[in-house]
Amino acid sequence: MGLSGNSKGLTGRLAFAIAAAVIGSAFQHGYNTGVVNAPQTLIEEFINQTSYDRSGEFMSKSGIKMVWSLAVSIYCVGGMVGGLLTAFISNRFGRKGGLLLNNVLVFVGAGLSALSKLAGSYEMIIIGRFFIGINSGLNAGIVPMYLSEMSPAHLKGAIGSSYQLVITISILLATVFGLPQCLGTSNLWPFLFGLTIIPAIFQLCTLPLCPESPRFLLLNRGQDVRAQEALTWLRGTIEVQDEMEEMKNVAEIMKSESKVTLRELLLNSVLRMPLIISVVIMLAQQLSGINATIFFSTEIFRNAGLSLDVALYATLGMGAINVVMTLVSLVLVEKAGRKTLLLVGFIGVDVICVLLAVCLALKDQVSWISYLSIVLVNAFIIFFASGPGSIPWFLVSELFGQNARSMATSIAITVNWGANFVVGVAFLPLAEVMGPYVFLVFATLVTIFVIFIFFFVPETKNKSPEDVAALFRQKSYQ
Ligand SMILES: *[C@@H]1O[C@H](CO)[C@@H](O)[C@H](O)[C@H]1NC(C)=O
Repeated sequence: MGLSGNSKGLTGRLAFAIAAAVIGSAFQHGYNTGVVNAPQTLIEEFINQTSYDRSGEFMSKSGIKMVWSLAVSIYCVGGMVGGLLTAFISNRFGRKGGLLLNNVLVFVGAGLSALSKLAGSYEMIIIGRFFIGINSGLNAGIVPMYLSEMSPAHLKGAIGSSYQLVITISILLATVFGLPQCLGTSNLWPFLFGLTIIPAIFQLCTLPLCPESPRFLLLNRGQDVRAQEALTWLRGTIEVQDEMEEMKNVAEIMKSESKVTLRELLLNSVLRMPLIISVVIMLAQQLSGINATIFFSTEIFRNAGLSLDVALYATLGMGAINVVMTLVSLVLVEKAGRKTLLLVGFIGVDVICVLLAVCLALKDQVSWISYLSIVLVNAFIIFFASGPGSIPWFLVSELFGQNARSMATSIAITVNWGANFVVGVAFLPLAEVMGPYVFLVFATLVTIFVIFIFFFVPETKNKSPEDVAALFRQKSYQ
């Protein structure tokens, strides 16, 4: 099943289509998650100064903090809105069409945030972050669907993982660009926000050259000829009869089934289980404590006696480990399988959360423990990236057939951003009350998720969505 000599493998055109879809989209998702960390102090000064210019009074510390948290967290609210819109947009305009259209939001969002300083309005950062959040939510929903629907079955996991790979790369880029030596200065920070226009332009130049998802064309639109053309383009061969046959069989079955509504998705016993799995996997990804670990990392590095500069580079190193490990996971996912990697990753994360809580609690008593904490933080990233980071995005597409996929994706993605929002808002207050023991909360949650995954998540490696659907029909746990 090697790539070479396999006409149904990763052709140059398929790789081009993947790059066109993923680089322009996952970049927004990852970059805008990470971009707010570095320039925080600079933007708080801007908020303070703007308030002074308007009213002759500086803003209170708590006022500034409130504006800032709003600017950070409204991104996730936008993400939830984008998640909710996924089903509608991806069916009305198509996967490719929806993605192209979505770039309008980048220009609006990045434009508002980038011009806020010039216009002397911090409100524009907040509104801009809301728009770019909607864009990111739609990306997280539509891209994995598009990828899953155009990939050959044996490469779905690897191709689906590319979404998280670009997220980790763009988080790393956001950290690098945010350095004071780069764009992290009081004059240049607006460019940090404006820069996201570049991948949008890249997508607008490349994605129009790629075909719409063949499964969408045939199964949603009934366009046989265009579906065959799309498949021929992607596979680089006109011998696509097998795949066309398989899709037409699915179309036949779909004819006898009614269109899946939200109500049916929630009430139909065959669809309910995959929906619950999708939602739980999304919750598990966000409630694993990944953002808390990243948040604590700089402090952990500082505590170990690293100077601020070195701690900063340690943070960069952590981002790099995230990228490399996601790449490893992309290769492993077609060999080890989704379920195995999810279990290994989450069990690892679980154990590390407990150890981190202990280490952070003891760090003042035992000096070498701070060094152990550095190791633990990196081990956390390695386990998270081995599966929990990437698999949830594409697993939803693999659990549902064509008639329910977009609706289920909408729900799962909304839940993911909702959980992201909750962690973002609740984490700091919780950490203030609980201190290092906040990691025990994550450990408890992850234990529950591990048990759930072990008993309920099926292995979807090398299976078509219809095979998986059949699996749920046979299972007795309905
Ligand atoms: C706002 O800016 C003024 C002038 O630079 C400064 O004295 C004040 O401490 C700032 N307020 C906060 C909360 O940072």
